[in-house]
Amino acid sequence: MKKRRLLGIGLVSVVAIAIAAIAVRLYQVPSARTLTYDVGEVAAVPVLTDERSLQRGEHVSKAIAVCQLCHGLDLGGKLAFEHPILGKGYTPNLTRGAGGIGTSYTSADWVRALRHGVNRDGRGLLFMPSDHYAYLTDQDLGAMIGYFQSLPPVDNLKNQLALTPLAKLMIDLGLSGEVVRAKSLDHTTNLSTAFNDQEQRPAYTVEIGGCTFCHGRDLHGGQGLEPGAPPGPDITSIGLNAWNFAQFAAVMRTGIRPDHSIIDYRFMPWQGYQNMTDEELKSVWDYLNTL
Ligand code: HEC
Ligand code: HEC
Repeated sequence: MKKRRLLGIGLVSVVAIAIAAIAVRLYQVPSARTLTYDVGEVAAVPVLTDERSLQRGEHVSKAIAVCQLCHGLDLGGKLAFEHPILGKGYTPNLTRGAGGIGTSYTSADWVRALRHGVNRDGRGLLFMPSDHYAYLTDQDLGAMIGYFQSLPPVDNLKNQLALTPLAKLMIDLGLSGEVVRAKSLDHTTNLSTAFNDQEQRPAYTVEIGGCTFCHGRDLHGGQGLEPGAPPGPDITSIGLNAWNFAQFAAVMRTGIRPDHSIIDYRFMPWQGYQNMTDEELKSVWDYLNTL
């Protein structure tokens, strides 16, 4: 099995290199990875630091937006993936510790990264699901920034992706899925009020939760970006038709399916979603059942 997978990866690599060589020769393609994106003047959101907002900021980050999945439980950055051919995925340190962005990041910088998917230089962030976070309301985003600024500092200097040239080529050629979300975001549209109505809260939770990131645009099945991730199954009423809410909630809280099989927390972030409130989980369930 392992051998076959390696062979598969090897074959893909050879084909990729061949295509890459031709493409680069013929077109000198500008890449989504190296382009800079002009997102205009970014409006800062008010940073909220009262106790309730800090709690809300922590809750949204942990339980819904699952920032911790990629940036580590203490948000100090971590090795999010490691692949023999594609390289290492160290993520940025979001705290005020050494190697962290926390000290220098302004509210507008946070907004730029989360709503537009670009860093301060205008470079598109790789792997960051900013197309989901673009929907964060000003209030939630302000609460999250307040929470990030209050994090205990973590010293971590290993805070940058270390992708191999092959991985970069594959991204440049669009062979690795939509890795740079800034490319397809319309930077002139404000999405933060799209789910303003109370009855749209479930859809908001699903959007910020990024379920479509791995389970497909319509949630009928898809594929996450992380190298080596299994496909995200159909989680609409059709895909989960034999389940009841209690079983769904158990999956989201324990990663164990009704048939006792285990869901890998590295690829399905239930360790984050397990912190959703009962009400949020129920609303996600009800929403999935309308699909
Ligand atoms: C799927 C993984 C993933 C998730 C989930 C994720 N990030 Fe990231 N994030 C990354 C990676 C990888 C980078 C580095 C991208 C690069 O350098 O191209 C990054 C970069 C960033 C940056 C830019 C740092 C800089 O150097 O300017 C910020 C800010 C950030 N993330 C905040 C967050 C927050 C807040 C959340 C939750 C709302 C979050 N991220 C969720 C993977 C993720
Ligand atoms: C980073 C990718 C990712 C995100 C984000 C994600 N999932 Fe998943 N999910 C997966 C993968 C991969 C599996 C299959 C895991 C396995 O087979 O071990 C899965 C499995 C599941 C299952 C079990 C389905 C079955 O038929 O066995 C449910 C239910 C589920 N996810 C719900 C959700 C919901 C709801 C959200 C959003 C709140 C979500 N997922 C977000 C990747 C993801």
